[in-house]
Amino acid sequence: MMQRQEEAQEEDLFDRFKEILTINPALIGSLTSIAFIIICWVIRDSLKVKDVCEKHVFITGCDTGFGNLLAQRLYRKGFIVIAACLTEKGSQELKACTSSSLRTVILNVTNPRSIDNAVAYVATETGNKGGLFGLVNNAGRAIPIGPTDWMDIEDFHRVLDVNLIGLIEVTLKFLPLIKKARGRIVNVASVMGRLAFGGGGYCLSKCGVESFSDSLRRDMQYFGVKVSIIEPGFFKTGVTSLEIIEKDLNRLWNRLTPEVKHLYGEKYFEKYLKVQRLSMNTFCDSDISKVTNCMEHALTARYPRTRYGAGWDAKFFWLPLSYAPAILADVMLKLILPRPLGYKRVLSKNQVDV
Ligand SMILES: NC(=O)c1ccc[n+]([C@@H]2O[C@H](COP(=O)([O-])OP(=O)(O)OC[C@H]3O[C@@H](n4cnc5c(N)ncnc54)[C@H](OP(=O)(O)O)[C@@H]3O)[C@@H](O)[C@H]2O)c1
Repeated sequence: MMQRQEEAQEEDLFDRFKEILTINPALIGSLTSIAFIIICWVIRDSLKVKDVCEKHVFITGCDTGFGNLLAQRLYRKGFIVIAACLTEKGSQELKACTSSSLRTVILNVTNPRSIDNAVAYVATETGNKGGLFGLVNNAGRAIPIGPTDWMDIEDFHRVLDVNLIGLIEVTLKFLPLIKKARGRIVNVASVMGRLAFGGGGYCLSKCGVESFSDSLRRDMQYFGVKVSIIEPGFFKTGVTSLEIIEKDLNRLWNRLTPEVKHLYGEKYFEKYLKVQRLSMNTFCDSDISKVTNCMEHALTARYPRTRYGAGWDAKFFWLPLSYAPAILADVMLKLILPRPLGYKRVLSKNQVDV
């Protein structure tokens, strides 16, 4: 009895499946095409370049964070890594945890002479071995970051000179060596280059990196040079160090005029610090390999992607929010960030009854 019932159910299911196939050939065709495209994309995405042991990669900002980990990982993979550090201390520490044979140079991306020296070193290193295969523009800084009217023009320069102008100058000076190798450029932007919040030069600089990289990719495609953009969410590194951010916020707050302080209200600063602490502790991921995996893919895949969103917060919150209507992003950010407490006082003082 039970067996017959089961057989009847199976037949029923089979009939329904046949019905779907005959009634909806378009649906089946579409699903099969989508599955086929996905499989082709996955296979294409997993193809790798050959002979990494003969390839030179130059990475900026290797003292700490993403650059430091990437240099170690590429070195272990067999690439000829030239790690650029801002300080001698950073260079020695990196050598200590890899090998004294790891090539390092001291590079300050805001100093044209320092960039020239690095280019000359890489030109000698690569010699007639086919140029520079990879350039990773990773060096960056975040502070000063805070409300826009707390900044002066120097604060903007401090960030833009490193994250954008420095990156552009390094790229332009290395381009002949990269073209020679038909190599690739990996530029580190940020989700904050897609969705601007928090005044200062950081969002501007990262938005500029996005835009510069897009133009560069389109211009360089004819020379076989590939350009990828990394868009990390929030990760625990030097640029998100609460201690450094809070110290700088104190500097900005303390130099404000009494009028501006009054406009924000004394309690605002405390709230702002609290929100910074809460959001950094909630959002910052300590697994920075999520970012270096993207950088590695951009350097080792035969077909590197144009953009890499790195981290869960980037993929599922910041990047989707950047596509949403501005009103939605404004409301979400208004919920997260504190409001100036003195603004109501000023509004009511200036109110004119009509
Ligand atoms: N961490 C995040 O959540 C996050 C998110 C999105 C994007 N990013 C970007 O990722 C990149 C790497 O940052 P990170 O998170 O790994 O932080 P990090 O540990 O502070 O690394 C930044 C590196 O850049 C170096 N640097 C600073 N100014 C420089 C200059 N003028 N010339 C050359 N090097 C300089 C720093 O050297 P010192 O350590 O000696 O100062 C440091 O080694 C940056 O472009 C950053 O904007 C980070």
